[in-house]
Order: sequence, then structure tokens, then C-alpha cells
Amino acid sequence: MKLVIVGSGYVGLVTGACFSEFGYKTICVDKDQDRINQLNSGVCPFYEPGMEDLLKKHLKNTKLLSFSTSLSESIHKADIVFITVGTPSRRLEDDADLKYVWAVAEEISHNIKKYCLVVTKSTVPVGTSNEIKRIIEKTVPKENFDVVSNPEFLREGSAINDFMRPDRVVIGTDNKKSENIMRELYRPLYLRETPIFVTSIESSEIIKYASNSFLATKISFINEVSDLCEVVGANVQDVSDAMGIDQRIGPKFLNAGPGYGGSCFPKDVKAFISTAKKFDTNLSIINAVHESNKKRVIKIVDKIEKNTKKNSSLTMLGLSFKPNTDDIRESTSIKIANLLNEKGYQIKCYDPEAMENVKNEKYNFHFYNTAIEACRDTNAIIIGTEWNEFRALNLIDIGKIVNEKIIFDLRNIYNKDEVIKIGYKYYGTGK
Ligand code: UGA
Repeated sequence: MKLVIVGSGYVGLVTGACFSEFGYKTICVDKDQDRINQLNSGVCPFYEPGMEDLLKKHLKNTKLLSFSTSLSESIHKADIVFITVGTPSRRLEDDADLKYVWAVAEEISHNIKKYCLVVTKSTVPVGTSNEIKRIIEKTVPKENFDVVSNPEFLREGSAINDFMRPDRVVIGTDNKKSENIMRELYRPLYLRETPIFVTSIESSEIIKYASNSFLATKISFINEVSDLCEVVGANVQDVSDAMGIDQRIGPKFLNAGPGYGGSCFPKDVKAFISTAKKFDTNLSIINAVHESNKKRVIKIVDKIEKNTKKNSSLTMLGLSFKPNTDDIRESTSIKIANLLNEKGYQIKCYDPEAMENVKNEKYNFHFYNTAIEACRDTNAIIIGTEWNEFRALNLIDIGKIVNEKIIFDLRNIYNKDEVIKIGYKYYGTGK
């Protein structure tokens, strides 16, 4: 099977590299010539564990993977073409901006010459795949194409593993022929007994938004419970551990923290609410989640302000929106650091992978090459992102170079009693 993937961003590249690993000849297309040049030289434009190895392997050794700026030159070789372009929030609006999706659908419609399956992998509101079908139908005979929805559930930082060992593969289709092609495509996963869930196109599109919104709900739920725990002297980690043992609840995504960030949850939660509004339906719970998450950063900044000296130096450890990625989109660490800076604090910071991306954004932060250097002469350390290397910091040695021994452990990576024992004032989340 020959595949073309349109949009060589995060989802497109992980999908392309992993399908090459399955043994399929795959062309990843993108309009950005610099990005394609970079990829052709084997360099991945973002940090994702394992990606560069996979890229080099299939670009140079197996030659199953290639990159191009031309959809028209690539598509005639394709049995399946995936749409993996971005669907960002529209400026000043909450709904998803589909301009890249429509542009790709148009371009596909002018280039299909033989039967080709068009797969929507971008996160798109319900109704989009059918609209793509209508666009293509204008120029391509019905028997020469089908459109299916096949949302992705990859997490940044563990995307390759998520692709190779997914909990499920969702296929939204209205006909047997496309279902069979998709089943054949994902056949390598049958060996791992991955459930292939076939449903209607509309259900498939909603599954993606409902899944992300539900996970965001779990996070906001435990975050609000953690506020109560703090006030009454309970420990939210015990609460979530015990809740999670109940199989109906499950332990994942119950870690209290500074709120969810990243390129997906904030955008998808907003877009889901907006889609429901269009259809005169009120997703009041998801709306509350969105509001709760927005307030979270302010609440944390208040807490830090109340417990530190005005205009002093603070150290933010971790800038990416979560560990194992250099992605800083909607990063709560950066929002918190920036708000504190606006209130007069000096911000020292360090992140293992995301520093260059933050430097490009021109924040008024001071950057250091190691966590320890960032802590020198600080008045409080804030753990913003739970990178593994912060778990192993020698807090005794660090205690000798700071101005004040105060820790805001927003991600609950330390044992409160142990940190207090070595002389720190400790502020965790919900404990
Ligand atoms: C998320 C979903 O988990 C993926 O399944 C989905 O494919 C992806 O969005 C997408 O739509 O493309 P991702 O944004 O990479 O993946 O990150 P997550 O690991 O889900 O974390 C999102 C945010 O929630 C992070 O800010 C993280 O720190 C926060 N979080 C997560 C918590 O605060 N507590 C938790 O218990 C878990």
C-alpha cells in the first residue's frame, strides 16, 4: 500500500514515520520548503523521543519514507491520502479554523486520477469529513474516492509508542470498501490485538473531541478537589490514588497540577463547546472545565505571591507544557512565570528541551544551562513541568546556593515530609 500524508507537522510526521515502520511506502508532503529540506537531511523539526532514529532509518536505510512539497506530484502514487494539517483555534473565536483542511481537500480534488481513499486524521468538528467529500465530489467521480475519519490519539512525548500500541483505532466510514482498506492498513496492529472500532463518520469525529474533553474534565475535577484538600489538610495524591483503584474511575489523568496545557486540550475543549453551540446544544460540563482551567493559573500565581517576597527572584524549572517534549504551546509554566514577571518578580528558568523555543518568544526571563544554575540566589523554586531530572535534584546542595529555601511543587514530584525535613518551606498542589 502506498500512502501520502498531507501536513508534515507533529501528527503527520509521527504517522508517516510509523507507517513506514509498518512497511508502507510513505510520502509526507508539506508546503514549507525549509521544513522539507530539514526533513530530507534527516532532522526532525521537534523533539520527540525516538522520532529522529525512525526518520533516519526509513529515509536512508529502507527508503520507505520520503518528503515533498508537491501534493500533485505525490498523490497519483497514493492508495490512501491522509489529511494531517493543523486545525488551530480561530483568532478571537473558539471554533477550529479549518482553512488548511479545505485547501488540502481542494488540492486533492484536482489531483485524484484513480481510486484513492481520503482519510481525515486532523482533529475536525463533526460534519467536516462529509464537507471534504462534497468538495472532492465537485471534480472527482464518486467511484474514484471515499472519505473516512480516523482520529489520532497520540500523546506528545510518547507518540511512537501510542501509534504502535494504541488502546484502539477508530474508523468512521459509510461503506464497506473503505472499512476493508482501513482494516488492511492497520493489519500489523492485529498481532497486538488492538481493537479496531468501526463506526459512522459523525461518531468518529465526536469520539476524538469527547475523549480529549473527558480527559480534560478528569484533570480539572481533581484540580478543584486538590483546592479543597489544601484547605482542609487532606492529601490529593491519596485521594486520587484511592479513587483510581475503582476500575470505573481508573488512575490515569488524576494528577492534580497547574492545569492542562498543550496544543490539543485547550483548543479542542473550546472547539467542542463551540460545535455544540452551533447545533443548539449546551455542553455545560465542558464549559465549566474550560472556565476552571483558565482560572487555575491565576490561583497559582496568587498562592506564590502570598508566600514570597515582593519583587524577589523566582526559579521556574520546566517550561514545556509537559515532560519529554519541547512544545511550549499553552504551557502553564510559561503563563505562570510570565504573570509573576509582570507583577515584578525576576524569573530565572531552565528546561531540558524547550529553552530555544521560549527564547524565540522574547519573554523577560533569565535562562540558565542547568537546573542548579537557575536556582542560584533564588527566593523560591517552582516545579512547573515534571521532567524526570527534577525528581533527582540534590535539594540539600541546592539549599546552600539559594537565598530562601522555598519550593512550589506544582506537579507533586517531591515527598512533602522529606523536603520539609531538610529545611524547606514546601507548597505542593492539594497537600
Ligand atoms: C492529548 C491526548 O492525551 C492525546 O490522546 C491526543 O491525541 C492529543 O491530546 C491530541 O489531541 O493530539 P497531549 O496534548 O500530547 O495529548 O498531552 P497529555 O499527555 O494528554 O497532557 C495534556 C495536558 O494535561 C498537559 O498539560 C499535562 O500536564 C496535563 N495533565 C495530564 C495533568 O495536568 N494531569 C494529568 O493527570 C494528566
